[in-house]
Amino acid sequence: MSTKQESLQHIAVIMDGNGRWAQKRGLPRAAGHKKGAETVKEIAKAANERGVRFLTLYAFSTENWQRPKDEVKTLMDLLRQYLKSDLVELHKHGIRIRFIGERYMLDKDIVESMEQLEQNTADNKGMTLILAISYGSRQEIVAAVRKVAAMVKKGDISESDVDIDLVSDMLYTKDVPDPDILIRTSGEQRISNYLLWQLAYAELFFTKTLWPDFTPNELGEIIDNFYLRERRYGKV
Ligand code: FPP
Repeated sequence: MSTKQESLQHIAVIMDGNGRWAQKRGLPRAAGHKKGAETVKEIAKAANERGVRFLTLYAFSTENWQRPKDEVKTLMDLLRQYLKSDLVELHKHGIRIRFIGERYMLDKDIVESMEQLEQNTADNKGMTLILAISYGSRQEIVAAVRKVAAMVKKGDISESDVDIDLVSDMLYTKDVPDPDILIRTSGEQRISNYLLWQLAYAELFFTKTLWPDFTPNELGEIIDNFYLRERRYGKV
């Protein structure tokens, strides 16, 4: 593997367009989410085979709690089912599974299944699939600031000890390299409260493809394109 090949460690994705995919076919939005969940499995397997070390997918944002009650229920039921079947299949492919987000907002049985999956897959040697569920980046940063403030107040550290590494260590992603690539599907070009701190130097890719139609082939094209871009990290 070349050095350049090794420089791609982490891909983050905003999976958008499930609703429009369903609407275009005259189907209920739930059908779009169901198809979107299948795409998650295909893309995770493809990224793992391509040697990607971390894949972080935005499955449910803190703002998504404000969607109509029945849609939230659909998404939670899908997640419940997913935790029991599809993610177990990914475990068989050697994929480690982790979750980031505000767990206290989720039903207890869902949190238990999540914890069980994290434990069962912890020793897998393949890619780490991180599902962001009930996740909001500003909330994550606020929680980090609170932790740092408490440490200063307690006298464990002084104000001048607060630096980029310390703040990074207070985030859900503390042991995960920053994303090299952010992909958003469906034509929208927004970050939507996703990994705001971690995306500082990510290469951004926006595709018009709706998430349920996103293929391993298109993922491969984005990865190939990434290697053609020159990353300067603010230097010349
Ligand atoms: C955005 O599409 C997608 C979501 C809010 C949820 C993403 C969820 C999945 C891909 C399926 C569930 C995943 C797991 C892991 C169980 P949208 O509904 O905003 O689409 P729209 O913009 O076209 O309305």
